[in-house]
Amino acid sequence: MITLLVNGERRQLDADAAMPLLWALRDLMNLKGAKFGCGMGLCGSCTVHLDGEPVRSCITPISAAEGKAVTTIEGLSTDGTHRVQIAWAELNVPQCGYCQPGQIMSAVALLERTPHPTEGQIEEAMAGNLCRCGTYLGIKRAIQQASQVAIGGGS
Ligand code: FES
Repeated sequence: MITLLVNGERRQLDADAAMPLLWALRDLMNLKGAKFGCGMGLCGSCTVHLDGEPVRSCITPISAAEGKAVTTIEGLSTDGTHRVQIAWAELNVPQCGYCQPGQIMSAVALLERTPHPTEGQIEEAMAGNLCRCGTYLGIKRAIQQASQVAIGGGS
């Protein structure tokens, strides 16, 4: 039995310690926000936070998440009002949308450690999140917009 703290809730899982965190989130906890992309930690669509740090959940065993706070996109807000989600919606960033939960999770982690990132810092932090629709410019603008919003309501 493995106990995980996911979006503030303690969850007990009867699963192999080597199970990828993405599998546990999607298949055992019905949290479908994080997406399966490459399965090798290369595309970023499965990005979630472990103690606030972005990780690729497709290559992270659940044993590595024990004792840490796991945050998925469902945990950012109950109603899509996190400042990064609002900026994403206002600037119409998503196209097909598949990669966007992972993009948002990487963006949130960046803004939590660097509240006002430069363009270069945004590019560096987001380099591991691929988008087949090429929404990179919109992503950059949304991060810049979110960085102007005071942390507080829904941050
Ligand atoms: Fe389609 Fe990014 S919006 S892959």
